[in-house]
Amino acid sequence: MSSSARTYRGTPRNLALLARRIRQGELVAVPTETVYGLAGDATSRASCLKIFAAKGRPSSDPLIVHIASIRDLGRVAVPNAAALKLARMFWPGPLTMILPKMPAVPDEATAGLPSVAVRVPSHPLFRKLIRLSGVPLAAPSANPFGYVSPTTADHVRKSLGRRIQHILDGGPSAIGLESTIVDLRNPSRPAILRPGTITRGEVARALGVPVAKSRRSSGAGGRIAPGQMPRHYSPRTPVIVHARLNPAAAAGKKSDAWLFVSKPGTRRGSNVFWLDARGDLRRAARRLFSILRELDDGGFRRIHVERPAGAGLAEALRDRLLRASST
Ligand code: TXA
Ligand code: MG
Repeated sequence: MSSSARTYRGTPRNLALLARRIRQGELVAVPTETVYGLAGDATSRASCLKIFAAKGRPSSDPLIVHIASIRDLGRVAVPNAAALKLARMFWPGPLTMILPKMPAVPDEATAGLPSVAVRVPSHPLFRKLIRLSGVPLAAPSANPFGYVSPTTADHVRKSLGRRIQHILDGGPSAIGLESTIVDLRNPSRPAILRPGTITRGEVARALGVPVAKSRRSSGAGGRIAPGQMPRHYSPRTPVIVHARLNPAAAAGKKSDAWLFVSKPGTRRGSNVFWLDARGDLRRAARRLFSILRELDDGGFRRIHVERPAGAGLAEALRDRLLRASST
């Protein structure tokens, strides 16, 4: 896709300019430590509607509201003791909390829900932009609806460059997977709605209560909650997830790509790839979306992926692979 978007480096002058554009109701693609987001003034109905239009996202799928500091939480949400505890522990960082919303957040941001998803991101350029804008910023991942999330400015330019005007380049996302989402509407029964690099175990230890696993329904009147859409993060090429991959199979099927968690010892061909040479899951998470995009552009008929085993971060990786998969 050719591009009409301009890419900006994070100079003070550019940040001031982009903050003005946000206040004027325009959208800016922004770097975050998780994935790139498409940001607009969360308090403006028109800006929120523009975000949905640019992504081709159904208006029933609510946005995440980003604030610069825990001090601003009360502007957008009604916190409880559990939320404050998690915020102090994990913000700024890749943790999003679902809480009752304040009236400053319009229905257009929350898809009509009485709750809001909120987080303080840690990427310094994004936080500066929020501060300079003076408003909370609504930002979903900056990908066309249903496609793989972007982890570089170039990913954003390639897939949304014709639909947006401004891209702030803050380098590759350090984490590479979207934030962990925890539902805290009922603080005595927290639940993970989307697994991420902050694990269910860490949230449970911080709160001192059990935390429910990814639920398949938000309990919000049958609406679709995070990632409840099948094939949410999919490449165009069919993705097939396997509990185990045999390197020998790759040699027999050159038309397909084979993506291992770590570097296979033998039989490596030009259609064999791995997430990290030593199978380090943090590094694997950082590279997953960009490898999926590369393989999607590589002309393969199918992409076979090995499923990482274990708890914690592996859970988040399995979640994204399952959503990318066609089976
Ligand atoms: O890491 C991230 O969270 C990135 C960066 C940009 O911050 N954002 C992100 O946004 O992944 P998005 O829109 O792609 O995913 C947000 C998810 C959606 O699946 C949405 O359904 C869910 O959060 N969500 C938002 N508000 C909600 C609410 N009030 N109740 C339940 N789920 C909500
Ligand atoms: Mg998304």
